[in-house]
Amino acid sequence: MNLMTEASAERMGTASQPSAAIGVARPHESAELHVSGEAAYTDDLPEFAGTLHVALGLSRHAHAHIVSLDLETVRAAPGVVAVLTAADIPGENNCGPVLHDDPILAEGTVSYLGQPVFAVIATSRDLARQAAALAKSGDIVRYEPLEAVLTAQAARDRQQYVLPPLHLVRGDPAARIAAAPHRLTGEFEVGGQEQFYLEGQIAYAVPKEGAGMLVYSSTQHPSEMQQVVAHMLGWPAHRVLCECRRMGGGFGGKESQSAVFVCIAALAASKLKRPVKLRADRDDDFLITGKRHDAVYRYEVGFDSEGRIAGARVEIALRAGYSADLSGAVATRAVCHVDNAYYLSDVEIAALACKTNTQSNTAFRGFGGPQGALVTEVMIDDIARALGRDPLDVRLANFYGIGERDVTPYGQRVDDNILAPLTAQLLESSDYRERRAALAAFNEASPVLKRGIAITPVKFGISFNVPFLNQAGALVHVYRDGSVLVNHGGTEMGQGLNTKVAQVVAHVLGLPLEQVRVTATDTSKVANTSATAASTGSDLNGKAAEAAAQTIRARLAEMAARLLGGQPGDAIFANGCVSLDGASLPFAQLVNEAYLARVQLWSDGFYATPKVHWDAKTLTGHPFYYFAYGAAVSEVVVDTLTGEWKLLRADLLHDAGRSINPAIDLGQVEGGFIQGMGWLTTEELWWNADGRLMTHAPSTYKIPAISDTPAAFHVALYRNENVEPTVFRSKAVGEPPLLLAFSVFLAIRDAVAAAAPHARSAPPLRAPATPEAILAAICALGRTASTA
Ligand code: MTE
Ligand code: MOS
Repeated sequence: MNLMTEASAERMGTASQPSAAIGVARPHESAELHVSGEAAYTDDLPEFAGTLHVALGLSRHAHAHIVSLDLETVRAAPGVVAVLTAADIPGENNCGPVLHDDPILAEGTVSYLGQPVFAVIATSRDLARQAAALAKSGDIVRYEPLEAVLTAQAARDRQQYVLPPLHLVRGDPAARIAAAPHRLTGEFEVGGQEQFYLEGQIAYAVPKEGAGMLVYSSTQHPSEMQQVVAHMLGWPAHRVLCECRRMGGGFGGKESQSAVFVCIAALAASKLKRPVKLRADRDDDFLITGKRHDAVYRYEVGFDSEGRIAGARVEIALRAGYSADLSGAVATRAVCHVDNAYYLSDVEIAALACKTNTQSNTAFRGFGGPQGALVTEVMIDDIARALGRDPLDVRLANFYGIGERDVTPYGQRVDDNILAPLTAQLLESSDYRERRAALAAFNEASPVLKRGIAITPVKFGISFNVPFLNQAGALVHVYRDGSVLVNHGGTEMGQGLNTKVAQVVAHVLGLPLEQVRVTATDTSKVANTSATAASTGSDLNGKAAEAAAQTIRARLAEMAARLLGGQPGDAIFANGCVSLDGASLPFAQLVNEAYLARVQLWSDGFYATPKVHWDAKTLTGHPFYYFAYGAAVSEVVVDTLTGEWKLLRADLLHDAGRSINPAIDLGQVEGGFIQGMGWLTTEELWWNADGRLMTHAPSTYKIPAISDTPAAFHVALYRNENVEPTVFRSKAVGEPPLLLAFSVFLAIRDAVAAAAPHARSAPPLRAPATPEAILAAICALGRTASTA
C-alpha cells in the first residue's frame, strides 16, 4: 500500500505554507473530540430530571385502513406515562417539507409498512419499547388491508405519481435518432441507498417557561424543525427553538426526515410538560425513514460510428414512496444531470416520481444527480460496446465543448469547463491506456478471474435548484480579549463546515485558527436558514461569515488608523497583529481600544448567491452558480465463478476550486467515492411481497468497510480556482465525488463483458452489482454468446 500519497502529503501540511488560515490542511475542529469520545452528540447531552422516553408503534401493513386502535393494554404496561395518537395533535398533523402530505402519526390509513401509528412515552427507553412491542400481537391495532403498490414500475404502469411528471425536450430527438447511422435501446435499474448515518435519528424536546419549547435535534435543517413543530402545536415560530451542535452523519437523511422524530418528542413534551427524548432504534430508523430513490430507466439513442450522440431519449422512474417529501427537487436535479459531462444537442428527458407504498424517499448525497448521470454513463458504455470502441473514446467524443456545444439541455451555458485538461491529467497519472492493454492480455490468459477498467467523468451543478434557498446568515462576535465566536446557519455533520467557516473568519481577521471558535447551530441566533444540503454549506455560510468578519475588520481598521495614523484601507491584518503606517498592534489590544471607544465588535453577515434563476414550468434557466468537476479510473477483478470482486486500484482527480482546506476536501472526495461504491455494489435494499423492508440492519445491509478501500488509492485535488467569486474561489465538494464511483460499477461491467468476449450485447448488469447480480449477468451474457 502506498502510504505517502499526495493525499497524505497535503494532509501533513507539507504541501502549503503552515501559517495562513486559508488553503492549508487543518484537522477537523472536533477531530480530537471525535477520536477521544468527548464530542457531544444529542444523546450525550446531560438529561434533565424527569426526562421521559419515546418508542413508536409502527404500521404492520404497507397499505391499510386502520379499523380500530385499542391502546389500553399499552397504556397499562409498566412504566408507561402516556400513549399518543394523531388525535392528540393540536395543530397540523404534517411534517412534510414541501407538500403537506406527510402525517406525523397515521390517521385513518397507513401508507407504508413502518409508518408511525402511535407513540408510547415511558419512564425509560426500554419500557417504552417493550410497551410499543405489544402492538405486534393481538388486536391492539386492527387493519383492513388495501392493495399496495410497491415498485416504481408498478406505479408507472398505473401512472401513480406524487407529483406531475417532469418533461424536458430540446431539439428533435426522435428525428435525430431515426436518421442516425446506429441506434440502441436499453433498460437499466439502480437500487436505493440507506443513509446509514452512524448516529441514528434523535430528538430531545425540553419545555421552556411561558409555553416555549427547546428541541435538540440531529438535523441538517434546524429552521425546518422549528417550523414543523410550531405548525404541529399551532404556535408562532418564536416559541420554538432548535439547536444542533453536530450530527454523526446526515448524508441527506436528516434534511427533512428528522422532522417526524422532532415533532413526536415535542408533542409529548408539550402534553406532559416534561422533557422527552426520542432516539430511534436502528431497525426502526431503517423502517421509518426514506432513502435514496431507486430508479428504473428506459432509453433510446442514435449515434454515429465514432459514438457521437445524435439524439437521445431517457425516462427515469424514481420510487418516491408514499409522499412527496423532497422528490420534486430530487427529480429536477436528476433531469439536470442526465447530461453529466456530455453535450446532448437533441434530447428528451422524463422523470417520474412514482407513488408507492414504501418509505418516503428523500435526499441522499447527490440528491438525484447521481441517478440522472448514471443512465447516460451506462448508455455511453453500451454505445462503446456496440461499436467495439474503448468507452473512453466515446466519452471524449461527446464531452462539452468550449465556446460551442456548451449549452445544457436546461439552457445553462457551461462556461467553466475543465473536463478536457482534468481528464488528460488523470489519464496520464493513472496510465489508463497502458493498463487497458495489459488488462486485455491478462484476461486472454485467465479463464476464471477477469479484470475490468473504466474511467468516468463528473460535472455537478452547485446551488439549490430552488433559487430562494440560496441564502445564508452568520454572526461574528469579537470579545475584549480578541477571541472570536462564530455562529452561522449551517450544520456540522462531519463534513468540516465549521472548520472551513472558522478558517475564513480567522483569515479575514488575520488570526491564528485557534482564536476562532464556532458554536452550535441555533435558530435563535440566525433565523430562516436553509438546510445544509446541496453541498452549499461552505459556499453560503462561508460567504456570510466572511461578510460579517469584513464588517468588523473595517471598523477595526478605522480604529487602527486613529491610533497608528495612515489610511484604514491600508491596514494589514496578519499573524494576530494589525499593522499600519509602519507600526503594529496586537489584535487583542486593538480590540480592547475599540471597545473602550464604544465601537461595535460584533456583526451579522448575509449572503445570497448571484446569477441563479429557474423556471419550474419549462425546466430551463440558470439553476447552478457554477459546476464542480472530477474524474476517476477504477480497476477491478471479478471471479466469474462466484461473482465476487475486488477494487484493485482507484485514481481520483477532483476539482474543489482553490481548496480552503485540502485535508478536509480530500476526505470528502475519498468518503464520497467509497459511499458511491457502496450504493452501486454492496448496499441492497430488499422489500418482501408484503412491502416489509427485510434489509433493515447492518446484518443484512452491507455498507463498505475499511477493508474495501483499494490497496492502491491515488486521490488528488485538481489545481484550479473557481471562475466565480465564491468564498476564496473554492468549490463545493460534499456531494460531487460520490459520482466518481460510477467508474467502479463500469469497471465491473467491463470485467463481466470480458467473461463473454463474443457476446454482442452489453452486460445486463443491474446496480447494485452484488455477487448475485454479477453472476446473473455473466450467465445471461454467456447464453447470448453461445446462441449468437
Ligand atoms: N460528510 C460527512 N462526513 N458526513 C455527512 O453527513 N453529508 C454530505 C456531504 N458530506 C455528509 C458529508 C451531503 S449529503 C452534503 S449535501 C454535504 O456534505 C453537506 O455539507 P456541505 O454543504 O457543507 O458540503
Ligand atoms: Mo445532501 S443529499 O444535499 O444533504
